[in-house]
Parts: sequence; C-alpha cells; structure tokens
Amino acid sequence: MRHGPRLGGCDLMSVTNYVTLEFPAVPENVEFARVAVACFASQINSFTLEEIDDVKLVVSEAISNTVLHSYDVSGGLVRLSAVRNGDTLTVIIEDFGKGIADVDQAKAPAFTTDPDRMGMGFTIMEALSDELRVSSVPGKGVKVEMRKSPHGAAKDSDEPEA
Ligand SMILES: Nc1ncnc2c1ncn2[C@@H]1O[C@H](COP(=O)(O)OP(=O)(O)OP(=O)(O)O)[C@@H](O)[C@H]1O
Ligand SMILES: [Mg+2]
Repeated sequence: MRHGPRLGGCDLMSVTNYVTLEFPAVPENVEFARVAVACFASQINSFTLEEIDDVKLVVSEAISNTVLHSYDVSGGLVRLSAVRNGDTLTVIIEDFGKGIADVDQAKAPAFTTDPDRMGMGFTIMEALSDELRVSSVPGKGVKVEMRKSPHGAAKDSDEPEA
C-alpha cells in the first residue's frame, strides 16, 4: 500500500478529494471561505442544506477568529484545508499568529479577551460539528479542525489513524 502526505489524520493518497487554500486574515475572506467550503462540502450529496449551513457557520467563526485575534497587524496568513473522505468532511483552519495560552479556557462559553464580543465562537463551532479539535502553540498560531458527516455519522467515531 502506498502512503502519501497526510492532512487532518487522513492519507491524501486515499481520500476522495481535498483542497488547500491560503489567504490573508482580512474580513472579506470570511465570506470567501464560507462559500468555498460550502461548495466543497456539497460534493457530499447526503449533506442536508441545514448541515451545509452548519459547516458555513463553523468556517466563518473560525476565520473570523483569525481576522480578529491572531495577528496584531492585518493580513497574516491563514491556511484552510478541506478533506472529503467518503462521506466525512474535515475542515482545518490554521493561522500562524499569537496563539492561545489556555485553549480550554478559550473554548469555555462566554470567555473572550475582547469586551466587545460574546465569546461564543468556539461554543457555536463545537455545537455544529461532530467533532472539534483546537490546538495552539503560543506564539506559533492556532489550528482548528472540525469533522462532520451527514446526520452526525462522524460523531464519536474512532480517532483518525496516526
Ligand atoms: N485564532 C486565534 N488566535 C488567537 N486567539 C484566539 C483565536 N481564536 C480565538 N482566540 C481567543 O479565544 C477567545 C474565544 O474565542 P471565541 O471565538 O469563542 O470568542 P470571541 O471571538 O471572543 O467572540 P465571538 O466569537 O462570540 O465574537 C477569543 O476572545 C481570543 O482570545
Ligand atoms: Mg470568535
């Protein structure tokens, strides 16, 4: 069996389809990313429109976070990958900015470092994904990985092989 590069726990040689996009963390790319991922996700025919809307919302929350929180100067790099493995969609959003010192605290409902915001982004992302992983190395950036299948089939699924 051949082994190729991996993304989101998947061997890219064996997945159905994948795409990686890089763009600056600027507000106009929130909508771009939403639409791009919705278009990719709709290749999974059995996703309902509501599930595609869930994916769009997760993507906009994650990309908005890169715009708002990652970089002191506008326009730092964001890398967005979407992987289709059968009926399972994995979306990975990475930035290379200041990072998060305490990810568990950041994910808590209503936690925010910006008094003008609600602190509900991660809570929404978690609710709308079958699985959400957030990891960060302070000073190096944040990686958000969401997994979703039609009708929650990816929920509580086994860990992707290492
Ligand atoms: N990409 C990121 N880089 C650095 N810090 C981040 C990043 N994403 C989130 N954070 C930190 O985690 C906190 C919580 O994020 P979350 O999205 O839950 O809420 P928020 O963005 O503050 O508010 P809301 O999403 O409701 O507008 C943020 O206030 C910020 O401190
Ligand atoms: Mg947010």
